[in-house]
Amino acid sequence: MTVQEEPQDLLRVRNLSMSFALSKGFLGRVHSTVDANADVSFTVKESETLSVVGESGCGKTTLGRCIVGMYRPTGGSVEFRGEDGRFVDLVPLSTAEMKPYRSQIRMIFQDPFSSLNPRMSVLELIGEPLRIQRGMSGRPLEDRVVELLERVGLPGSYAQRYPHAFSGGERQRIGIARALALNPRLVVADECVSALDVSIQAQVLNLLGEIQKEFGIAYLFISHDLTVVRHISDRVAVMYAGTLVELADVKALFDRPMHPYTQALLSAAPRPVPGARGKSRRIRLEGEVADLANKPSGCLFHPRCRHARDRCKVDAPALRAMPDGRTVACHFAEEIAQTPASDV
Ligand SMILES: Nc1ncnc2c1ncn2[C@@H]1O[C@H](COP(=O)(O)OP(=O)(O)OP(=O)(O)O)[C@@H](O)[C@H]1O
Ligand code: SF4
Ligand SMILES: [Mg+2]
Repeated sequence: MTVQEEPQDLLRVRNLSMSFALSKGFLGRVHSTVDANADVSFTVKESETLSVVGESGCGKTTLGRCIVGMYRPTGGSVEFRGEDGRFVDLVPLSTAEMKPYRSQIRMIFQDPFSSLNPRMSVLELIGEPLRIQRGMSGRPLEDRVVELLERVGLPGSYAQRYPHAFSGGERQRIGIARALALNPRLVVADECVSALDVSIQAQVLNLLGEIQKEFGIAYLFISHDLTVVRHISDRVAVMYAGTLVELADVKALFDRPMHPYTQALLSAAPRPVPGARGKSRRIRLEGEVADLANKPSGCLFHPRCRHARDRCKVDAPALRAMPDGRTVACHFAEEIAQTPASDV
């Protein structure tokens, strides 16, 4: 009999905060700060897909960028399990100290080429991390790029071409090949299929699934598309106004959302129409998203919450563990979860 081992934690994010200073005037005085992430804690396990959902501006991209080291968080820690099994906090590391982790944690973007030089060939684009991180060049570099192209379902001859010549789906495959080049253990995918037509989305998602199985990669999958999230996730983290409000196994979250924000998000999500083509839409809920430069008191969701009571205006709810293993930040989650779906 084989004993199924529990997957180990790969990433532990603890009390992560990221505030941006907003300045104005030619002296650049700071006149306010935007708390894009506030006190966010969660873990990502080896080889799992943890999705992060929430309305536009709730801090998903900022969270991803803090994890891959594009932003240095203003508080908290991002602990990554090294090859030796020990956790290292990446936040205080210098650029040189961060180098070994940069190859293990990679990011895929919505448009993989928006921030890259359009005059670079596919060989240069996919080869860049191999050249910089591994010092590869010449024939070995070319061979590795061709191997990566073939792994993502593209012909090796594409190496000599330029990205503008490709369709959205092909460009995203090239972005995936670039992310895969250094054999990462964690990939942060930020809205990586959102700009693609539904049929192409499915192909790219299948590719990500195959790669995950083959290489045991964990994904932090940032998306506003709940249909995709339901399909591909092991667990789902729901963010509101820079904070985590619920984190649960995917089935538990969709079958029985407990936080009023999760409930509203699920009920507002556009239902998939069988056979429909086209791009998915952003979620719209009633009321304004909390202003991160001027946050409400107490529970950040209280101005929009149909269950809010006096306590909610003064007392910010902490994340609490529920008997089924999920965590929820709402004072009245157990009671509210009993509310019939039609009343949500
Ligand atoms: N570099 C920055 N400087 C100042 N404010 C920023 C910066 N990046 C993000 N913000 C602010 O932080 C908040 C969170 O933004 P973020 O892009 O992380 O949200 P998001 O959940 O990814 O949204 P979307 O779904 O639209 O991609 C927003 O209020 C945004 O204006
Ligand atoms: S704590 Fe209060 S305002 Fe916040 S989600 Fe729960 S019921 Fe709504
Ligand atoms: Mg974003």
